Amino acid sequence: MKMQWYVYTGTGNSLWIARQLALEFKEVSLRFMPYLTRDLKVEVDGVGVIFPVHIWGLPVRVIQFINHLQVNPGTHFFALAVNAGQPAATLLQLQKLMATCQRSLALGYSIVMPSNYTPWGGPGSMDAQQRLSRQAQEKVKAIAGPILRGERKKVDRGLLWQNILFSWIYKLSYRHVCKMDKNFWVDEKCNHCGICSRVCPANNIEMINEKPAWLHRCEQCFACLQWCPREAIQYGKKTVKYPRYHHPEVSLEDMLDQAKANQG
Ligand SMILES: Cc1cc2nc3c(=O)[nH]c(=O)nc-3n(C[C@H](O)[C@H](O)[C@H](O)COP(=O)(O)O)c2cc1C
Ligand code: SF4
Ligand code: SF4
Repeated sequence: MKMQWYVYTGTGNSLWIARQLALEFKEVSLRFMPYLTRDLKVEVDGVGVIFPVHIWGLPVRVIQFINHLQVNPGTHFFALAVNAGQPAATLLQLQKLMATCQRSLALGYSIVMPSNYTPWGGPGSMDAQQRLSRQAQEKVKAIAGPILRGERKKVDRGLLWQNILFSWIYKLSYRHVCKMDKNFWVDEKCNHCGICSRVCPANNIEMINEKPAWLHRCEQCFACLQWCPREAIQYGKKTVKYPRYHHPEVSLEDMLDQAKANQG
């Protein structure tokens, strides 16, 4: 089966998961997910989408991607929704979205990894992070078989009350995501290196007078805050006291590759 996988990531968890899954396959092509503003035709037997859960639902980039991806009828789709323990109805949302484009999601798995939503605290102790990574690795090994065999299963989902409540919050917040960057600010530790601007997959940060300025087309991936080498980027009032996070096996170069590759 000829497969093409697309990954989107803010702090490397989804990229690491995609790479772990790729170890179980003989041959697979892994690309960064572009922000599609026009149709993209892909001639393969199977498509995988691997992405973080944002605000209990699909990131805008994933929605754009699914809306504009053109495939042959019968193409097999799987999705990995990488999250911090609350996937809620994200994979059901994806299933519905795909159904509106006459495509069907054969497999959808939730994979829990450390949280990169720093305003709600750090990613947990090193022990807790390693435990999550081990559990994620085990799940990845278990799901490789169904993906390889082209099986169909019910997609993973949260508890019913969570799905209802959190999907409602998602719907309320979705159209405001692009402007949520108004909560970012830079403290005195900034050394004007420009990494935040280069790492942003949405090209949403301009260096003005040697300091980052956010341009209100934010995707809330948190790459800028997490990859700033000086921990100088804050979001609201609380991030000052919390540690930063990115996956230890994903490098800044990986993130710069994503930023270069995924402009639509
Ligand atoms: C803006 C934002 C919103 C998030 N919302 C959720 C959420 O609703 N549920 C959840 O479990 N994790 C949530 N997270 C955490 C990420 O999904 C999780 O840490 C994921 O592993 C990050 O993957 P990445 O490193 O590939 O970006 C959120 C993170 C961010 C930055
Ligand atoms: S990455 Fe951090 S230190 Fe570098 S310019 Fe941006 S805010 Fe300043
Ligand atoms: S501004 Fe920051 S949070 Fe927004 S898309 Fe760019 S890197 Fe992600």
